[in-house]
Amino acid sequence: YDYDLLVVGSANADLVIDVERRPGAGETVLGGDLAVHPGGKGANQAVAAARLGARTALLARVGDDAHGRLLLDSQRAAGVDTAGVLVGGAPTGVALITVDPSGDNSIVVSPGANGRLTPADVQNADRLLRSSRVVSAQLEIPLETVVAVAASLEPGSLFVLNPSPPRPLPAVLLAACDTLIVNEHEAKVILGEERLGGAPEDWARTLLARGPKSVVVTLGSEGALVATAEGVARIASVMVDAVDTTGAGDSFTAALAWKLGTGSSLAEAAAYAARVGAVAVTRRGAQESFPTADEVEALASGDGEVR
Ligand code: RIB
Ligand code: NA
Repeated sequence: YDYDLLVVGSANADLVIDVERRPGAGETVLGGDLAVHPGGKGANQAVAAARLGARTALLARVGDDAHGRLLLDSQRAAGVDTAGVLVGGAPTGVALITVDPSGDNSIVVSPGANGRLTPADVQNADRLLRSSRVVSAQLEIPLETVVAVAASLEPGSLFVLNPSPPRPLPAVLLAACDTLIVNEHEAKVILGEERLGGAPEDWARTLLARGPKSVVVTLGSEGALVATAEGVARIASVMVDAVDTTGAGDSFTAALAWKLGTGSSLAEAAAYAARVGAVAVTRRGAQESFPTADEVEALASGDGEVR
């Protein structure tokens, strides 16, 4: 394989304002200075994996504009192969993000060019798909494009899906997943809220029965659950002081996807990914906050309290 990870997904300019609290309907609040960061769940995953040392490529679409150049620069600086980043057709996607004092965010995404990444673009990228050990996707691009990715996988490659933002998924897509990674909210939407009684272990098992070979349920400060046909196990969280959680989930997914491709077990990959995400939440922004492998090691050897 030429690439450890191919990410198919979105690239957004993140327009970020710190707020004391979010405005309600009809309300105006004053926030801090505007920051513009490279983001988008796909672009974030690609940078996160490359920073860790994975040979990474991105299949995405940006506009022929300043935001598109910001995103391409960030990918290249991290060492991502951007031959699969298409330019034009619509303005670059934008995410309007508020971050509150606890580091939590609220995000509205205008997909722009991400909405123009088509199944035909996937077919044209068959060289990338053929030469990648792991392929990962999210849902800020059209669902039919993600379905086309799943249908174009080479035998032997792994497919990791983070269905974010969530929507009900076709059975064919769930069945194509080697690993489905969801948080509580995403699990609710995919299963239908009424079936979400019970413990997270139950959601993991119910999701597994829908077709993926394995399921990861992330539980924030409670860590994560990994579920396979062999059973469900809990992965401890790494306690850190959160400054900005934006993109931390993307770095978790990317790290896990890459580690799976190197032969790690699901539990090992998830434990490593939890450390990557823990570093990311201690820093501002999405892509700028992602650690190198050395920084993950430093956290593992004592900077963060593991519980
Ligand atoms: O997951 C975080 C990302 O969600 C942000 O970078 C923003 O662009 C939105 O896509
Ligand atoms: Na961050």
